[in-house]
Amino acid sequence: MQNILSYQTAFTDYLKGYASTKEPANLYNPIHYILQLGGKRLRPVLTLMTAEIFGSNHTKALDAALSIEVFHNFSLVHDDIMDDAPLRRGQQTVHEKWDINTGILSGDAMLIMAYQLFENYNPQVFQSLAKLFSKTALEVCEGQQYDVDFETRDDVTIPEYLKMIEYKTAVLVGAAMKMGAIVAETSEDNQNSIYQFGRLLGIAFQLQDDYLDAFGDPKTFGKQVGGDIIENKKTYLYLKALQALDDSDKHRLEQLFSVNLEDNSDKIETVKQYFVASGSAEATKEAIKEYTNKAFEVLDTLSISEDKKQMLKTFGTNLMTRSV
Ligand code: IPE
Ligand code: IPE
Ligand code: MG
Ligand code: MG
Ligand code: MG
Repeated sequence: MQNILSYQTAFTDYLKGYASTKEPANLYNPIHYILQLGGKRLRPVLTLMTAEIFGSNHTKALDAALSIEVFHNFSLVHDDIMDDAPLRRGQQTVHEKWDINTGILSGDAMLIMAYQLFENYNPQVFQSLAKLFSKTALEVCEGQQYDVDFETRDDVTIPEYLKMIEYKTAVLVGAAMKMGAIVAETSEDNQNSIYQFGRLLGIAFQLQDDYLDAFGDPKTFGKQVGGDIIENKKTYLYLKALQALDDSDKHRLEQLFSVNLEDNSDKIETVKQYFVASGSAEATKEAIKEYTNKAFEVLDTLSISEDKKQMLKTFGTNLMTRSV
């Protein structure tokens, strides 16, 4: 086993040799752009780590890790179109730098490239990876559709929100880890336990993403702060606030989330005040801890060494305290 940073370096080195620019430039340049923009690389690192946790060598898992990261970046290119987002990793989003059609087609190509990377595995491993990938990718689409549907609904419940974030985000974190386990050809029980760990960590991760979207520092966050408020996203912050506010404030908050404005600065400030005053900001932090701890509980069911469990816990704890 190596440390988290060395997996990150191994992955970024491998990525450098992959994303080349070729013709037609307007298809491949945006792919190169988004893949080289940086990002935390958390999913591929989890794939590499998991492969070693189950006794394989991380180099065997590099193509699976790359596949996950290419798919993730594809989903971001299309997500930024859907969310009308101007910024990604502190730079212009693909559809802002080029245009919407470019974002659609480059994204489509990335989805295919992600799948293509499985060709480097033997037939049995290929089949398991492809099966998991297809299931997960469809779930991400379902999650993304719920996310958009919720923008214009005023009766979204917290269980519905939790299901939505499980699908749009958490299943991919689970799949990233399960792919490492598949490459290592470990038992199905191990594969499923590590998937559950990743899924629960992924729920905590999306709750934190929603928290940072409102309360992150614009200097470090890399995305437009308040983007979810502008788009009327029905996040945990919002749904918990509605539960806690008295009737008149609740009505005012609902009213703010029923409009699309030209200038959003007052809306963002007022909504953030409601999130703090209602206690929903605190409740979100609690929920992040709760899901992270649920993930840690899954580790008790795994028969791997203590130092490996500790590495996964360190990874989870670092995610909780992140600012990007
Ligand atoms: C952003 O993912 C999309 C979500 C699921 C919240 P990340 O926060 O992992 O994005 P990068 O890859 O580090 O930029
Ligand atoms: C993104 O959720 C989930 C996927 C890309 C599938 P968000 O819309 O919250 O992600 P960010 O905040 O734009 O990174
Ligand atoms: Mg988005
Ligand atoms: Mg989105
Ligand atoms: Mg977000």
